[in-house]
Amino acid sequence: MAAARPDLKIGVVGATGMVGKAFMSILEERAFPLAELRPFASDNSLGKKIPLRGREWAVQTLKPGCFDGLDLVFFSSGDEISAEWAPRAVKAGAFAVDNSAAFRMDASIALVVPEVNGHLLKPGMKPAIIANPNCSTIQLVVALKPLERFGLEEVRVSSYQAVSGGGQAAHDELIDQVKDHENPSPSVKVFPHPILFNVIPQIGSFNDDGFCSEEVKIMKETRKILGAPELKVSAFTVRVPALNSHSEAVWVTLGQDVGREQVLQALHEGAGLVVQDDPKSSVYPLPRQVSGLDPVHVGRVHRDPENPRLWLMWVVSDNIRKGAALNGLQIAERIFDIRTGP
Ligand SMILES: NC(=O)c1ccc[n+]([C@@H]2O[C@H](COP(=O)([O-])OP(=O)(O)OC[C@H]3O[C@@H](n4cnc5c(N)ncnc54)[C@H](OP(=O)(O)O)[C@@H]3O)[C@@H](O)[C@H]2O)c1
Repeated sequence: MAAARPDLKIGVVGATGMVGKAFMSILEERAFPLAELRPFASDNSLGKKIPLRGREWAVQTLKPGCFDGLDLVFFSSGDEISAEWAPRAVKAGAFAVDNSAAFRMDASIALVVPEVNGHLLKPGMKPAIIANPNCSTIQLVVALKPLERFGLEEVRVSSYQAVSGGGQAAHDELIDQVKDHENPSPSVKVFPHPILFNVIPQIGSFNDDGFCSEEVKIMKETRKILGAPELKVSAFTVRVPALNSHSEAVWVTLGQDVGREQVLQALHEGAGLVVQDDPKSSVYPLPRQVSGLDPVHVGRVHRDPENPRLWLMWVVSDNIRKGAALNGLQIAERIFDIRTGP
C-alpha cells in the first residue's frame, strides 16, 4: 500500500486580501491535509492572527528565506510581488500557484483550470510556478469546454463584473457609496467613476487598439488554456455594481449544427458546471445566488435565429472562489494528488 502523503506546509501571500481570505475559508471547508500555514501580507498586517483549523497563525512579511520548508505557496498580492517572489518560492523547493497576471502568458508556464486542462499537472512533478488564470477567463473556459466536441469556431463575450474583482478596496468603495447614496459626486479611489447606480465599460488600462487589459487577458488566456491559438475570441468587459460574482453573456459559434438538447446535455455533463435554464419561469444564474458557490453556472442557452451554429448563453461564477482561490486549491490538489472537494 502506498504511504499516505504527509500534511502540507502552505504559504499564502496576500492572506488578508479578498482572495487570500477566501483561500482560508476553502481550506477550512475542505479536508485539505495541512501541517502549517504561513500567511504573508504587507507591513500593515504584520502580526495579525489568521484563525484556521483551531489555531491562530501570525501574519508575516516577505523576507529572504521566508519560504524555506514550505511545500506550496499561493500568491495573491498582485503582479509585481509575484514576479519577484514566486521564483524565490520555487528556488526554496515549493510549488508557486500564482493568482496574478505575471506569468500567465509565459510559454514555459502552465496556465491551468483543472476541469479544462488539468492534464498539464502530474503528481510527482518538480516544483514550478503554475499560473491561475484571470477570473473572467476561468468561468468562460469551464462553460466552453463541454462544447469543444461540436467544434469551437468563434467566441464573443461581454462581461458584467462585480466590484469584488477589484479587491477589498473596490468592494469597500461600493459599500461606502451605498451608505452615501444621496451624494451626487461620491469620492472615487479605485474605479475611474462612481460605481453605484452606474456601469463602467473599463476594467484595467486601454491599449492603442481600444481594448482594456481585462479584455486582452480573456482573449489571450482563453486560447492558451483551450490549446487553440487560432480560435477567434473577442471580449468586452464592463464593471457593474454587483458585490460579488461575475456574469458573462457569451456568443459561441460551433463547427456543427446541433440541437438544443445536445448542447444542454453537453453542458449538463461539463465538469464544474451547473445548468440553470428555465427562463420562462425566470430561472437563470444570478450573481447574488451564485456567490459563495463552487461551480460555474450557465443558463439562457438559446440559438441565434439567423445562424444555426451560433449559440448564446449566460455564465455566472463566484470570481473570488472559482475565479481565484478555489481554482488555486484545485491546482494544488492535482499537483499533490489530493482529493478533498465534492
Ligand atoms: N478579486 C478577484 O476576483 C481576483 C480574481 C482573480 C485574481 N485576482 C488577483 O489576485 C490578487 C489579489 O487580489 P485581491 O482581490 O485579494 O486584492 P486585495 O483584496 O487588495 O488584497 C491584496 C493582498 O495583498 C497584500 N499585500 C499588499 N502589499 C503586499 C506586500 N508588499 N507583501 C505582501 N503582501 C502584500 C495585502 O496585504 P494587506 O492587507 O496587509 O494590505 C492583501 O493581503 C491580484 O493579483 C488580483 O489581480 C483577484
